[in-house]
Amino acid sequence: MRSRRPLAVTFVRGAWGLTLAAVLAGCPSKPKPDPAAKEAPPPSATPLAPAEAAPDPARGKELVLTFQCNRCHDGTGHPAAADNKHCVHCHKKIVDDRFEAPAASIARWKPRVKELADAPSLEATNKRLTRTWVTRYLLQPSDLRPHLHQFMPRLPLTPSDARDVAAYLVPDVDPPAAAAPAELAGADLGKGRQLLETKGCGSCHVFTGVAAIPSSAPPPMDGKQFARGHTLAPDLRFVRERMTAAKVIAWLEDPKAVVNDTAMPKPALSKAEVKDVAAYLLTAELAAAPPRDEPARLPVLTRKVTFKEVDEKVFHRTCWHCHSEPDYAIGDGGPGNSGGLGFKPRGLNLSDYNGIAAGYVDDKGERASVFAKDDQGVPRLVRALLARHDEERGAETGPVRGMPLGYAPLSAEEIQLVESWVAQGRPR
Ligand code: HEC
Ligand code: HEC
Ligand code: HEC
Ligand code: HEC
Repeated sequence: MRSRRPLAVTFVRGAWGLTLAAVLAGCPSKPKPDPAAKEAPPPSATPLAPAEAAPDPARGKELVLTFQCNRCHDGTGHPAAADNKHCVHCHKKIVDDRFEAPAASIARWKPRVKELADAPSLEATNKRLTRTWVTRYLLQPSDLRPHLHQFMPRLPLTPSDARDVAAYLVPDVDPPAAAAPAELAGADLGKGRQLLETKGCGSCHVFTGVAAIPSSAPPPMDGKQFARGHTLAPDLRFVRERMTAAKVIAWLEDPKAVVNDTAMPKPALSKAEVKDVAAYLLTAELAAAPPRDEPARLPVLTRKVTFKEVDEKVFHRTCWHCHSEPDYAIGDGGPGNSGGLGFKPRGLNLSDYNGIAAGYVDDKGERASVFAKDDQGVPRLVRALLARHDEERGAETGPVRGMPLGYAPLSAEEIQLVESWVAQGRPR
Protein backbone atom coordinates (compact mmCIF):
# COMPACT_ATOMS: atom_id res chain seq x y z
CA MET A 1 0.00 0.00 0.00
CA ARG A 2 1.17 3.49 -0.75
CA SER A 3 1.25 5.91 2.11
CA ARG A 4 -1.43 8.58 2.31
CA ARG A 5 -0.32 11.97 1.24
CA PRO A 6 -1.67 15.30 2.35
CA LEU A 7 -4.00 17.16 0.03
CA ALA A 8 -1.37 19.30 -1.59
CA VAL A 9 -1.58 21.05 -4.88
CA THR A 10 1.69 22.37 -6.17
CA PHE A 11 0.15 25.41 -7.74
CA VAL A 12 -2.01 26.38 -4.77
CA ARG A 13 -0.43 26.60 -1.38
CA GLY A 14 -1.17 28.14 1.97
CA ALA A 15 -4.60 29.30 2.96
CA TRP A 16 -5.85 28.81 -0.55
CA GLY A 17 -4.63 25.29 -0.78
CA LEU A 18 -7.58 23.62 0.85
CA THR A 19 -10.28 25.79 -0.64
CA LEU A 20 -9.01 25.35 -4.12
CA ALA A 21 -8.16 21.71 -3.67
CA ALA A 22 -11.77 21.31 -2.63
CA VAL A 23 -12.96 23.07 -5.75
CA LEU A 24 -10.51 21.17 -7.87
CA ALA A 25 -11.78 18.07 -6.17
CA GLY A 26 -13.80 17.37 -9.22
CA CYS A 27 -11.05 18.38 -11.52
CA PRO A 28 -9.98 15.29 -13.33
CA SER A 29 -12.21 12.90 -11.61
CA LYS A 30 -14.38 9.96 -11.09
CA PRO A 31 -17.42 11.73 -9.73
CA LYS A 32 -18.60 9.22 -7.14
CA PRO A 33 -21.15 11.48 -5.48
CA ASP A 34 -22.30 12.86 -8.80
CA PRO A 35 -25.71 11.36 -9.56
CA ALA A 36 -25.03 11.98 -13.23
CA ALA A 37 -22.34 9.33 -13.31
CA LYS A 38 -22.27 5.55 -13.35
CA GLU A 39 -19.71 2.80 -13.14
CA ALA A 40 -18.52 1.64 -16.52
CA PRO A 41 -19.04 -2.01 -17.34
CA PRO A 42 -15.75 -3.83 -18.00
CA PRO A 43 -15.23 -3.53 -21.78
CA SER A 44 -15.34 -7.30 -22.26
CA ALA A 45 -18.70 -7.58 -20.47
CA THR A 46 -20.53 -6.04 -23.41
CA PRO A 47 -20.86 -8.64 -26.11
CA LEU A 48 -20.77 -7.43 -29.69
CA ALA A 49 -24.31 -7.19 -30.97
CA PRO A 50 -24.90 -9.08 -34.18
CA ALA A 51 -24.91 -6.62 -37.08
CA GLU A 52 -28.63 -7.06 -37.76
CA ALA A 53 -29.80 -6.45 -34.16
CA ALA A 54 -31.58 -3.11 -33.84
CA PRO A 55 -29.62 -0.57 -31.83
CA ASP A 56 -30.98 0.32 -28.40
CA PRO A 57 -31.29 4.10 -27.93
CA ALA A 58 -32.44 3.74 -24.30
CA ARG A 59 -29.19 1.94 -23.50
CA GLY A 60 -27.38 4.60 -25.52
CA LYS A 61 -28.83 7.28 -23.25
CA GLU A 62 -27.56 5.40 -20.18
CA LEU A 63 -24.13 5.00 -21.73
CA VAL A 64 -23.87 8.77 -22.17
CA LEU A 65 -23.75 8.90 -18.36
CA THR A 66 -21.43 5.91 -18.06
CA PHE A 67 -18.88 7.60 -20.31
CA GLN A 68 -19.55 11.00 -18.76
CA CYS A 69 -20.09 12.76 -22.08
CA ASN A 70 -21.73 15.50 -19.98
CA ARG A 71 -18.35 16.47 -18.51
CA CYS A 72 -17.44 18.07 -21.82
CA HIS A 73 -20.59 18.43 -23.94
CA ASP A 74 -23.76 20.42 -23.34
CA GLY A 75 -26.96 19.20 -24.96
CA THR A 76 -26.56 15.51 -24.03
CA GLY A 77 -30.13 15.22 -22.73
CA HIS A 78 -28.71 14.81 -19.19
CA PRO A 79 -27.88 17.60 -16.75
CA ALA A 80 -24.34 18.93 -17.13
CA ALA A 81 -21.83 17.49 -14.65
CA ALA A 82 -21.14 19.76 -11.68
CA ASP A 83 -18.77 22.66 -12.40
CA ASN A 84 -15.99 21.13 -10.34
CA LYS A 85 -16.12 17.98 -12.51
CA HIS A 86 -16.80 19.60 -15.82
CA CYS A 87 -13.65 19.77 -17.95
CA VAL A 88 -14.97 22.50 -20.24
CA HIS A 89 -17.05 24.56 -17.80
CA CYS A 90 -14.22 24.79 -15.25
CA HIS A 91 -11.61 25.72 -17.85
CA LYS A 92 -14.02 28.27 -19.30
CA LYS A 93 -14.63 29.81 -15.90
CA ILE A 94 -10.90 30.28 -15.50
CA VAL A 95 -10.61 31.93 -18.91
CA ASP A 96 -13.61 34.21 -18.20
CA ASP A 97 -12.27 35.23 -14.74
CA ARG A 98 -15.24 33.64 -13.02
CA PHE A 99 -13.22 31.06 -11.09
CA GLU A 100 -12.61 31.84 -7.43
CA ALA A 101 -8.87 31.73 -6.90
CA PRO A 102 -6.06 34.21 -6.29
CA ALA A 103 -5.36 36.46 -9.26
CA ALA A 104 -1.79 35.13 -9.54
CA SER A 105 -3.01 31.54 -9.93
CA ILE A 106 -5.64 32.51 -12.48
CA ALA A 107 -3.04 34.44 -14.46
CA ARG A 108 -0.81 31.35 -14.55
CA TRP A 109 -3.60 28.95 -15.51
CA LYS A 110 -5.34 31.09 -18.08
CA PRO A 111 -2.90 30.67 -20.95
CA ARG A 112 -2.71 26.93 -20.17
CA VAL A 113 -6.44 26.27 -20.34
CA LYS A 114 -7.32 28.86 -22.99
CA GLU A 115 -7.37 26.22 -25.69
CA LEU A 116 -9.33 23.70 -23.61
CA ALA A 117 -12.33 25.89 -22.90
CA ASP A 118 -14.88 24.79 -25.45
CA ALA A 119 -16.48 21.74 -27.05
CA PRO A 120 -19.37 21.52 -29.52
CA SER A 121 -22.86 21.12 -28.08
CA LEU A 122 -24.61 17.83 -28.84
CA GLU A 123 -27.97 19.62 -29.00
CA ALA A 124 -30.02 18.60 -32.04
CA THR A 125 -27.40 16.14 -33.26
CA ASN A 126 -30.31 14.43 -35.03
CA LYS A 127 -30.85 17.47 -37.22
CA ARG A 128 -27.17 17.95 -38.01
CA LEU A 129 -25.34 14.67 -38.33
CA THR A 130 -25.94 11.20 -39.72
CA ARG A 131 -26.13 8.19 -37.45
CA THR A 132 -23.57 6.31 -39.53
CA TRP A 133 -21.01 9.06 -39.14
CA VAL A 134 -21.59 9.45 -35.38
CA THR A 135 -21.14 5.69 -34.87
CA ARG A 136 -17.85 5.70 -36.75
CA TYR A 137 -16.59 8.85 -35.06
CA LEU A 138 -17.25 7.56 -31.53
CA LEU A 139 -15.06 4.55 -32.24
CA GLN A 140 -12.34 6.46 -34.03
CA PRO A 141 -12.53 10.18 -33.32
CA SER A 142 -10.32 12.49 -35.33
CA ASP A 143 -9.68 16.22 -35.52
CA LEU A 144 -12.62 18.09 -37.09
CA ARG A 145 -12.04 21.65 -35.96
CA PRO A 146 -8.67 23.09 -36.93
CA HIS A 147 -8.96 26.01 -34.48
CA LEU A 148 -10.03 23.92 -31.47
CA HIS A 149 -7.12 22.41 -29.57
CA GLN A 150 -9.23 20.04 -27.53
CA PHE A 151 -10.08 16.76 -29.22
CA MET A 152 -12.76 14.19 -28.76
CA PRO A 153 -11.06 11.50 -26.61
CA ARG A 154 -10.97 7.91 -27.80
CA LEU A 155 -13.16 6.34 -25.12
CA PRO A 156 -13.42 2.63 -24.31
CA LEU A 157 -16.67 2.14 -26.25
CA THR A 158 -17.40 -1.18 -27.96
CA PRO A 159 -18.94 -1.14 -31.46
CA SER A 160 -22.35 -1.98 -30.00
CA ASP A 161 -21.98 0.80 -27.40
CA ALA A 162 -21.23 3.24 -30.23
CA ARG A 163 -24.27 2.09 -32.22
CA ASP A 164 -26.56 2.51 -29.23
CA VAL A 165 -25.20 5.96 -28.33
CA ALA A 166 -25.48 7.06 -31.96
CA ALA A 167 -29.09 5.78 -32.13
CA TYR A 168 -29.86 7.84 -29.03
CA LEU A 169 -28.25 11.02 -30.41
CA VAL A 170 -29.61 10.44 -33.94
CA PRO A 171 -33.00 8.69 -33.65
CA ASP A 172 -33.80 9.08 -37.37
CA VAL A 173 -32.47 6.33 -39.60
CA ASP A 174 -30.20 7.73 -42.33
CA PRO A 175 -31.78 7.92 -45.79
CA PRO A 176 -30.16 5.63 -48.37
CA ALA A 177 -27.14 7.34 -49.95
CA ALA A 178 -28.06 8.84 -53.32
CA ALA A 179 -25.55 9.71 -56.03
CA ALA A 180 -27.59 12.81 -56.93
CA PRO A 181 -29.89 13.87 -54.07
CA ALA A 182 -33.20 15.28 -55.34
CA GLU A 183 -32.79 18.34 -53.06
CA LEU A 184 -29.80 19.47 -55.12
CA ALA A 185 -31.36 19.19 -58.59
CA GLY A 186 -30.49 22.18 -60.77
CA ALA A 187 -27.88 23.61 -58.36
CA ASP A 188 -25.04 25.71 -59.79
CA LEU A 189 -21.67 24.57 -58.37
CA GLY A 190 -19.76 27.58 -59.71
CA LYS A 191 -22.17 29.92 -57.99
CA GLY A 192 -21.94 27.89 -54.81
CA ARG A 193 -18.17 28.29 -54.81
CA GLN A 194 -18.46 32.04 -55.45
CA LEU A 195 -20.91 32.48 -52.56
CA LEU A 196 -18.55 30.63 -50.20
CA GLU A 197 -15.86 33.13 -51.16
CA THR A 198 -18.01 36.24 -50.70
CA LYS A 199 -20.40 35.51 -47.81
CA GLY A 200 -17.93 35.39 -44.94
CA CYS A 201 -17.64 31.60 -44.72
CA GLY A 202 -13.84 31.66 -45.08
CA SER A 203 -13.46 33.93 -42.04
CA CYS A 204 -14.33 30.94 -39.83
CA HIS A 205 -14.17 27.77 -41.91
CA VAL A 206 -11.41 26.02 -43.78
CA PHE A 207 -12.32 23.55 -46.50
CA THR A 208 -9.29 21.35 -47.05
CA GLY A 209 -9.20 19.52 -50.36
CA VAL A 210 -10.48 22.42 -52.50
CA ALA A 211 -8.75 25.70 -53.44
CA ALA A 212 -8.45 27.82 -50.27
CA ILE A 213 -11.61 29.82 -49.46
CA PRO A 214 -10.52 33.46 -49.10
CA SER A 215 -11.69 35.26 -45.99
CA SER A 216 -14.55 37.73 -46.52
CA ALA A 217 -16.61 39.74 -44.02
CA PRO A 218 -19.18 37.64 -42.11
CA PRO A 219 -22.58 39.11 -41.20
CA PRO A 220 -22.22 41.70 -38.38
CA MET A 221 -21.72 40.00 -35.00
CA ASP A 222 -19.97 40.84 -31.73
CA GLY A 223 -16.32 39.99 -31.27
CA LYS A 224 -16.86 37.34 -28.62
CA GLN A 225 -19.41 35.49 -30.72
CA PHE A 226 -17.09 35.63 -33.70
CA ALA A 227 -14.18 34.24 -31.68
CA ARG A 228 -16.34 31.34 -30.49
CA GLY A 229 -17.61 30.69 -34.03
CA HIS A 230 -14.07 30.70 -35.37
CA THR A 231 -12.91 28.23 -32.70
CA LEU A 232 -15.80 25.83 -33.23
CA ALA A 233 -16.11 25.96 -37.03
CA PRO A 234 -15.59 22.47 -38.50
CA ASP A 235 -13.44 21.84 -41.56
CA LEU A 236 -16.05 21.79 -44.36
CA ARG A 237 -14.25 18.82 -45.87
CA PHE A 238 -16.23 16.51 -43.56
CA VAL A 239 -19.70 17.83 -44.46
CA ARG A 240 -20.28 15.07 -47.03
CA GLU A 241 -19.49 12.36 -44.47
CA ARG A 242 -21.35 13.99 -41.60
CA MET A 243 -24.52 15.38 -43.16
CA THR A 244 -27.23 14.65 -45.72
CA ALA A 245 -28.31 17.17 -48.37
CA ALA A 246 -31.50 17.88 -46.40
CA LYS A 247 -29.50 18.53 -43.22
CA VAL A 248 -27.06 20.88 -44.97
CA ILE A 249 -29.92 22.84 -46.54
CA ALA A 250 -31.82 23.21 -43.26
CA TRP A 251 -28.59 24.32 -41.55
CA LEU A 252 -27.72 26.97 -44.14
CA GLU A 253 -31.27 28.32 -44.21
CA ASP A 254 -31.17 29.10 -40.50
CA PRO A 255 -28.54 27.60 -38.18
CA LYS A 256 -30.27 29.07 -35.14
CA ALA A 257 -33.47 27.19 -35.95
CA VAL A 258 -31.43 23.99 -35.64
CA VAL A 259 -29.19 24.80 -32.65
CA ASN A 260 -30.42 27.71 -30.61
CA ASP A 261 -27.07 28.87 -29.23
CA THR A 262 -25.01 28.14 -32.33
CA ALA A 263 -22.01 30.38 -32.93
CA MET A 264 -22.62 30.42 -36.69
CA PRO A 265 -24.43 33.53 -37.95
CA LYS A 266 -27.37 33.13 -40.32
CA PRO A 267 -25.90 33.35 -43.82
CA ALA A 268 -27.34 35.98 -46.16
CA LEU A 269 -28.40 33.48 -48.82
CA SER A 270 -31.60 33.10 -50.89
CA LYS A 271 -33.22 29.66 -51.12
CA ALA A 272 -31.64 29.08 -54.53
CA GLU A 273 -28.24 30.18 -53.22
CA VAL A 274 -28.51 27.80 -50.27
CA LYS A 275 -28.94 24.99 -52.75
CA ASP A 276 -25.89 26.13 -54.75
CA VAL A 277 -23.69 26.30 -51.63
CA ALA A 278 -24.97 22.93 -50.34
CA ALA A 279 -24.22 21.32 -53.69
CA TYR A 280 -20.68 22.71 -53.71
CA LEU A 281 -20.05 21.52 -50.14
CA LEU A 282 -21.36 18.04 -50.90
CA THR A 283 -20.02 17.43 -54.39
CA ALA A 284 -17.03 19.69 -55.19
CA GLU A 285 -14.09 17.60 -56.26
CA LEU A 286 -11.98 16.91 -53.20
CA ALA A 287 -8.23 16.28 -53.17
CA ALA A 288 -7.02 13.50 -50.87
CA ALA A 289 -6.43 14.66 -47.30
CA PRO A 290 -2.87 15.88 -46.86
CA PRO A 291 -1.09 12.92 -45.26
CA ARG A 292 -0.09 13.41 -41.66
CA ASP A 293 3.49 12.42 -41.29
CA GLU A 294 4.62 9.97 -38.72
CA PRO A 295 6.28 12.01 -35.99
CA ALA A 296 10.01 12.27 -36.49
CA ARG A 297 11.74 10.02 -33.96
CA LEU A 298 14.60 12.21 -32.82
CA PRO A 299 17.72 10.43 -31.60
CA VAL A 300 18.13 10.02 -27.86
CA LEU A 301 19.86 13.07 -26.37
CA THR A 302 23.48 12.73 -25.29
CA ARG A 303 23.24 15.55 -22.76
CA LYS A 304 21.95 14.70 -19.29
CA VAL A 305 18.17 14.82 -18.88
CA THR A 306 16.95 15.19 -15.30
CA PHE A 307 13.58 14.19 -13.89
CA LYS A 308 13.03 17.85 -13.02
CA GLU A 309 13.20 18.83 -16.68
CA VAL A 310 10.86 16.08 -17.95
CA ASP A 311 8.50 16.76 -15.08
CA GLU A 312 8.30 20.49 -15.80
CA LYS A 313 7.97 20.15 -19.55
CA VAL A 314 5.75 17.07 -19.78
CA PHE A 315 4.46 15.23 -16.70
CA HIS A 316 3.44 18.20 -14.59
CA ARG A 317 2.47 20.31 -17.53
CA THR A 318 0.23 18.01 -19.50
CA CYS A 319 -0.23 14.65 -17.77
CA TRP A 320 -0.49 15.30 -14.05
CA HIS A 321 -3.95 16.77 -14.45
CA CYS A 322 -5.43 13.35 -15.30
CA HIS A 323 -2.81 11.23 -13.51
CA SER A 324 -2.73 12.88 -10.12
CA GLU A 325 -1.72 11.64 -6.68
CA PRO A 326 -4.00 8.82 -5.53
CA ASP A 327 -5.20 10.84 -2.56
CA TYR A 328 -5.63 14.07 -4.42
CA ALA A 329 -9.03 15.65 -4.00
CA ILE A 330 -10.61 13.11 -1.66
CA GLY A 331 -9.35 10.05 -3.46
CA ASP A 332 -9.87 11.39 -6.93
CA GLY A 333 -6.58 11.09 -8.76
CA GLY A 334 -8.04 11.84 -12.18
CA PRO A 335 -9.35 9.62 -15.00
CA GLY A 336 -5.87 8.16 -15.66
CA ASN A 337 -5.45 7.18 -12.00
CA SER A 338 -8.71 6.54 -10.17
CA GLY A 339 -10.86 6.19 -13.30
CA GLY A 340 -13.56 8.22 -15.02
CA LEU A 341 -14.84 8.87 -18.57
CA GLY A 342 -15.74 5.18 -18.65
CA PHE A 343 -12.18 4.03 -17.85
CA LYS A 344 -11.35 1.59 -15.11
CA PRO A 345 -8.86 2.86 -12.54
CA ARG A 346 -5.34 2.43 -13.98
CA GLY A 347 -3.65 3.64 -10.83
CA LEU A 348 -1.05 5.60 -12.77
CA ASN A 349 0.24 8.59 -10.81
CA LEU A 350 2.43 10.82 -12.97
CA SER A 351 2.70 13.57 -10.38
CA ASP A 352 6.04 12.51 -8.91
CA TYR A 353 9.02 10.23 -9.37
CA ASN A 354 7.81 7.45 -7.08
CA GLY A 355 4.36 7.49 -8.63
CA ILE A 356 5.80 6.95 -12.10
CA ALA A 357 8.11 4.23 -10.80
CA ALA A 358 5.09 2.43 -9.28
CA GLY A 359 3.62 1.92 -12.77
CA TYR A 360 0.02 1.20 -13.73
CA VAL A 361 -2.58 -1.54 -13.34
CA ASP A 362 -2.72 -3.70 -16.46
CA ASP A 363 -5.74 -5.48 -17.98
CA LYS A 364 -5.21 -8.47 -15.66
CA GLY A 365 -5.41 -6.16 -12.64
CA GLU A 366 -1.70 -6.44 -11.86
CA ARG A 367 0.86 -3.68 -11.37
CA ALA A 368 3.10 -3.32 -14.41
CA SER A 369 5.93 -0.98 -15.36
CA VAL A 370 5.37 1.89 -17.80
CA PHE A 371 9.00 1.38 -18.85
CA ALA A 372 8.55 -2.21 -20.07
CA LYS A 373 9.60 -2.43 -23.72
CA ASP A 374 7.33 -3.76 -26.46
CA ASP A 375 8.53 -6.08 -29.24
CA GLN A 376 9.98 -3.07 -31.07
CA GLY A 377 11.99 -2.04 -28.04
CA VAL A 378 9.82 0.98 -27.27
CA PRO A 379 8.94 1.61 -23.59
CA ARG A 380 5.19 1.64 -22.95
CA LEU A 381 5.30 5.25 -21.78
CA VAL A 382 6.85 6.36 -25.08
CA ARG A 383 4.54 4.07 -27.06
CA ALA A 384 1.53 5.88 -25.55
CA LEU A 385 2.90 9.21 -26.80
CA LEU A 386 3.53 7.82 -30.30
CA ALA A 387 0.08 6.17 -30.35
CA ARG A 388 -1.53 9.60 -29.96
CA HIS A 389 0.10 10.61 -33.24
CA ASP A 390 -1.11 7.37 -34.85
CA GLU A 391 -4.68 8.10 -33.73
CA GLU A 392 -4.57 11.52 -35.34
CA ARG A 393 -3.14 10.10 -38.55
CA GLY A 394 -5.97 7.59 -38.64
CA ALA A 395 -3.37 4.81 -38.53
CA GLU A 396 -3.85 1.49 -36.75
CA THR A 397 -3.05 1.77 -33.06
CA GLY A 398 -1.96 -1.12 -30.93
CA PRO A 399 -3.21 -2.03 -27.46
CA VAL A 400 -1.78 1.14 -25.89
CA ARG A 401 -4.11 4.14 -25.93
CA GLY A 402 -2.73 7.44 -27.21
CA MET A 403 -1.64 9.96 -24.59
CA PRO A 404 -2.36 12.71 -23.66
CA LEU A 405 -5.94 11.45 -24.01
CA GLY A 406 -8.01 13.86 -26.09
CA TYR A 407 -5.29 16.48 -26.41
CA ALA A 408 -2.84 17.49 -29.10
CA PRO A 409 -0.01 14.97 -29.48
CA LEU A 410 3.31 15.93 -27.91
CA SER A 411 5.98 17.38 -30.18
CA ALA A 412 8.88 15.29 -31.43
CA GLU A 413 11.16 17.22 -29.03
CA GLU A 414 8.95 16.48 -26.02
CA ILE A 415 8.82 12.78 -26.91
CA GLN A 416 12.59 12.82 -27.38
CA LEU A 417 12.97 14.27 -23.90
CA VAL A 418 10.87 11.51 -22.30
CA GLU A 419 12.60 8.82 -24.34
CA SER A 420 16.06 10.18 -23.44
CA TRP A 421 15.23 10.28 -19.74
CA VAL A 422 14.09 6.64 -19.86
CA ALA A 423 17.14 5.61 -21.90
CA GLN A 424 19.48 7.31 -19.41
CA GLY A 425 18.14 5.08 -16.65
CA ARG A 426 15.49 7.50 -15.34
CA PRO A 427 17.73 9.63 -13.12
CA ARG A 428 15.95 11.50 -10.34
C1 HEC B 1 -12.21 22.62 -11.23
C2 HEC B 1 -11.52 23.09 -12.39
C3 HEC B 1 -11.05 22.10 -13.45
C4 HEC B 1 -11.69 20.97 -13.90
C5 HEC B 1 -13.04 20.41 -13.48
C6 HEC B 1 -10.84 20.40 -14.92
N1 HEC B 1 -9.69 21.14 -15.05
FE1 HEC B 1 -8.19 20.78 -16.39
N2 HEC B 1 -7.15 22.39 -15.66
C7 HEC B 1 -7.56 23.19 -14.61
C8 HEC B 1 -6.46 24.08 -14.24
C9 HEC B 1 -6.47 25.10 -13.11
C10 HEC B 1 -5.37 23.78 -15.12
C11 HEC B 1 -3.98 24.44 -15.16
C12 HEC B 1 -3.11 23.70 -14.17
C13 HEC B 1 -1.66 24.15 -14.22
O1 HEC B 1 -1.33 25.05 -14.97
O2 HEC B 1 -0.89 23.58 -13.46
C14 HEC B 1 -5.84 22.71 -15.99
C15 HEC B 1 -5.06 22.12 -16.99
C16 HEC B 1 -5.44 21.03 -17.74
C17 HEC B 1 -4.58 20.36 -18.71
C18 HEC B 1 -3.13 20.71 -19.03
C19 HEC B 1 -3.07 21.71 -20.14
C20 HEC B 1 -1.66 21.93 -20.65
O3 HEC B 1 -1.10 22.99 -20.33
O4 HEC B 1 -1.14 21.10 -21.39
C21 HEC B 1 -5.32 19.33 -19.24
C22 HEC B 1 -4.87 18.34 -20.31
C23 HEC B 1 -6.62 19.36 -18.59
N3 HEC B 1 -6.66 20.41 -17.69
C24 HEC B 1 -7.64 18.46 -18.86
C25 HEC B 1 -8.81 18.35 -18.12
C26 HEC B 1 -9.80 17.32 -18.32
C27 HEC B 1 -9.76 16.24 -19.36
C28 HEC B 1 -10.78 17.54 -17.40
C29 HEC B 1 -12.05 16.72 -17.16
C30 HEC B 1 -11.84 15.30 -16.92
C31 HEC B 1 -10.40 18.71 -16.63
N4 HEC B 1 -9.21 19.17 -17.10
C32 HEC B 1 -11.16 19.25 -15.60
C33 HEC B 1 -8.78 23.18 -14.00
C34 HEC B 1 -9.77 22.20 -14.18
C1 HEC C 1 -12.96 15.20 -22.46
C2 HEC C 1 -14.01 15.86 -23.19
C3 HEC C 1 -14.99 15.04 -24.02
C4 HEC C 1 -15.71 13.94 -23.62
C5 HEC C 1 -15.69 13.23 -22.27
C6 HEC C 1 -16.55 13.59 -24.75
N1 HEC C 1 -16.32 14.43 -25.79
FE1 HEC C 1 -17.26 14.39 -27.60
N2 HEC C 1 -16.05 15.86 -28.27
C7 HEC C 1 -15.16 16.57 -27.49
C8 HEC C 1 -14.53 17.59 -28.31
C9 HEC C 1 -13.49 18.58 -27.84
C10 HEC C 1 -15.10 17.47 -29.60
C11 HEC C 1 -14.77 18.29 -30.84
C12 HEC C 1 -13.60 17.67 -31.54
C13 HEC C 1 -13.25 18.33 -32.84
O1 HEC C 1 -14.07 19.10 -33.34
O2 HEC C 1 -12.17 18.05 -33.39
C14 HEC C 1 -16.06 16.39 -29.54
C15 HEC C 1 -16.87 15.99 -30.60
C16 HEC C 1 -17.95 15.14 -30.50
C17 HEC C 1 -18.93 14.89 -31.53
C18 HEC C 1 -19.00 15.59 -32.87
C19 HEC C 1 -19.89 16.82 -32.66
C20 HEC C 1 -19.83 17.82 -33.76
O3 HEC C 1 -20.75 18.66 -33.84
O4 HEC C 1 -18.85 17.83 -34.51
C21 HEC C 1 -19.82 13.98 -31.03
C22 HEC C 1 -21.04 13.41 -31.74
C23 HEC C 1 -19.37 13.65 -29.69
N3 HEC C 1 -18.24 14.37 -29.39
C24 HEC C 1 -20.03 12.78 -28.87
C25 HEC C 1 -19.57 12.42 -27.60
C26 HEC C 1 -20.17 11.38 -26.80
C27 HEC C 1 -21.41 10.59 -27.20
C28 HEC C 1 -19.43 11.29 -25.67
C29 HEC C 1 -19.57 10.29 -24.54
C30 HEC C 1 -19.63 8.89 -24.99
C31 HEC C 1 -18.39 12.29 -25.73
N4 HEC C 1 -18.49 12.94 -26.92
C32 HEC C 1 -17.45 12.53 -24.74
C33 HEC C 1 -14.87 16.36 -26.16
C34 HEC C 1 -15.38 15.34 -25.39
C1 HEC D 1 -18.51 33.14 -37.13
C2 HEC D 1 -18.02 31.92 -37.69
C3 HEC D 1 -18.79 31.25 -38.83
C4 HEC D 1 -19.11 31.77 -40.05
C5 HEC D 1 -18.85 33.17 -40.57
C6 HEC D 1 -19.73 30.69 -40.80
N1 HEC D 1 -19.79 29.57 -40.02
FE1 HEC D 1 -20.50 27.77 -40.60
N2 HEC D 1 -20.24 27.04 -38.73
C7 HEC D 1 -19.68 27.73 -37.69
C8 HEC D 1 -19.73 26.90 -36.50
C9 HEC D 1 -19.22 27.29 -35.13
C10 HEC D 1 -20.32 25.68 -36.88
C11 HEC D 1 -20.56 24.46 -36.01
C12 HEC D 1 -21.93 24.47 -35.45
C13 HEC D 1 -21.99 25.02 -34.06
O1 HEC D 1 -21.04 24.82 -33.30
O2 HEC D 1 -23.01 25.61 -33.71
C14 HEC D 1 -20.61 25.80 -38.29
C15 HEC D 1 -21.18 24.78 -39.03
C16 HEC D 1 -21.35 24.83 -40.39
C17 HEC D 1 -21.81 23.74 -41.20
C18 HEC D 1 -22.09 22.33 -40.67
C19 HEC D 1 -20.77 21.60 -40.85
C20 HEC D 1 -20.54 20.42 -40.00
O3 HEC D 1 -19.64 19.64 -40.37
O4 HEC D 1 -21.19 20.26 -38.95
C21 HEC D 1 -21.86 24.15 -42.48
C22 HEC D 1 -22.28 23.36 -43.69
C23 HEC D 1 -21.44 25.55 -42.48
N3 HEC D 1 -21.15 25.92 -41.19
C24 HEC D 1 -21.36 26.35 -43.60
C25 HEC D 1 -21.08 27.70 -43.56
C26 HEC D 1 -21.19 28.55 -44.72
C27 HEC D 1 -21.57 28.09 -46.10
C28 HEC D 1 -20.87 29.81 -44.29
C29 HEC D 1 -20.89 31.08 -45.10
C30 HEC D 1 -22.17 31.40 -45.71
C31 HEC D 1 -20.56 29.74 -42.88
N4 HEC D 1 -20.71 28.44 -42.47
C32 HEC D 1 -20.17 30.80 -42.10
C33 HEC D 1 -19.15 29.01 -37.74
C34 HEC D 1 -19.24 29.87 -38.81
C1 HEC E 1 -7.51 13.73 -20.31
C2 HEC E 1 -6.93 12.86 -19.31
C3 HEC E 1 -5.54 12.31 -19.56
C4 HEC E 1 -4.39 13.01 -19.85
C5 HEC E 1 -4.24 14.51 -20.06
C6 HEC E 1 -3.33 12.03 -19.88
N1 HEC E 1 -3.82 10.78 -19.64
FE1 HEC E 1 -2.75 9.03 -19.62
N2 HEC E 1 -4.45 7.98 -19.23
C7 HEC E 1 -5.72 8.52 -19.10
C8 HEC E 1 -6.67 7.45 -18.97
C9 HEC E 1 -8.18 7.62 -18.82
C10 HEC E 1 -5.94 6.25 -19.02
C11 HEC E 1 -6.48 4.82 -18.98
C12 HEC E 1 -6.58 4.36 -20.42
C13 HEC E 1 -7.09 2.96 -20.59
O1 HEC E 1 -7.49 2.33 -19.61
O2 HEC E 1 -7.08 2.50 -21.76
C14 HEC E 1 -4.55 6.61 -19.17
C15 HEC E 1 -3.50 5.68 -19.28
C16 HEC E 1 -2.16 6.01 -19.47
C17 HEC E 1 -1.09 5.06 -19.59
C18 HEC E 1 -1.22 3.56 -19.53
C19 HEC E 1 -1.67 3.17 -20.89
C20 HEC E 1 -1.49 1.73 -21.17
O3 HEC E 1 -2.44 1.09 -21.64
O4 HEC E 1 -0.39 1.28 -20.93
C21 HEC E 1 0.07 5.78 -19.76
C22 HEC E 1 1.48 5.21 -19.94
C23 HEC E 1 -0.30 7.18 -19.76
N3 HEC E 1 -1.65 7.28 -19.58
C24 HEC E 1 0.60 8.21 -19.92
C25 HEC E 1 0.24 9.55 -20.04
C26 HEC E 1 1.18 10.63 -20.27
C27 HEC E 1 2.68 10.44 -20.40
C28 HEC E 1 0.46 11.77 -20.33
C29 HEC E 1 0.95 13.18 -20.61
C30 HEC E 1 1.74 13.35 -21.83
C31 HEC E 1 -0.95 11.42 -20.13
N4 HEC E 1 -1.03 10.07 -19.94
C32 HEC E 1 -1.99 12.34 -20.13
C33 HEC E 1 -6.04 9.86 -19.11
C34 HEC E 1 -5.18 10.91 -19.42
